[in-house]
Amino acid sequence: MQTKIEKIDASSALAIKIIEDQEFEDLEFLSFREKLSLANISHPEKKREWATARLAIHDALLQLQIPYPGFFKDEHGKSQSMNGHGYVSLTHTVGYAGAIFHREQPVGIDMDLIREKILSIGFRFLDKIELDFLQKDPAHYTMAWSAKESIFKCQGKRGVSFRENILLDPFNPEDQVIKGRIRGTDYTDHHYTVEVRRLDNVILTYTIW
Ligand SMILES: CC(C)(COP(=O)(O)OP(=O)(O)OC[C@H]1O[C@@H](n2cnc3c(N)ncnc32)[C@H](O)[C@@H]1OP(=O)(O)O)[C@@H](O)C(=O)NCCC(=O)NCCS
Repeated sequence: MQTKIEKIDASSALAIKIIEDQEFEDLEFLSFREKLSLANISHPEKKREWATARLAIHDALLQLQIPYPGFFKDEHGKSQSMNGHGYVSLTHTVGYAGAIFHREQPVGIDMDLIREKILSIGFRFLDKIELDFLQKDPAHYTMAWSAKESIFKCQGKRGVSFRENILLDPFNPEDQVIKGRIRGTDYTDHHYTVEVRRLDNVILTYTIW
């Protein structure tokens, strides 16, 4: 399975894997609870995505020389480390899965396929100010969507609206950094710096609290 691993700094790393149709690599490292969760996913494609995201976090942890602790989902759906150490975020999209781990700070990661139809749903997740600065370009819109997903996942709480509560500063389609903030929630005025990468027709973003 093709993997891209990036050690961001001494405390954090991310891994991106291409989802392939072949057999899974060894998944013995999963906790008992995770093996049960995997067994309960009936859709073969979803199963593959779920497993590949765990292989990605396993690879990111190896890079940091941290043993795999096992992860569980909290009441908001966010994955938490079973030993209470470190922060993780996971993502999967058509053909790819990815994960990021940080020893001390919450993280968020997201990958999205660039699709034309995103232009027609912009009003659902974008504020008027954002609609004004974004070009009518699916890649530009996908960057905005993915940046908001990464910020959402980093804060982790349900009930935060992309349109009402997450606001992005103006950015250009070729930018590799997007600044954003959360407003009108418990985390009002928390500012985020979102890193952006493009892999073929997929936008990857991640942020560290
Ligand atoms: C849950 C949500 C973050 C998932 O994102 P997605 O792009 O559909 O899917 P991804 O593959 O990138 O991410 C899925 C992972 O997000 C993680 N996740 C789910 N809920 C989460 C939360 N509250 N906080 C952090 N991470 C979360 C999970 O680890 C999940 O992977 P897993 O099921 O393999 O464990 C997203 O669908 C969501 O609910 N967003 C907020 C709702 C919203 O405002 N939507 C826009 C309205 S226009």
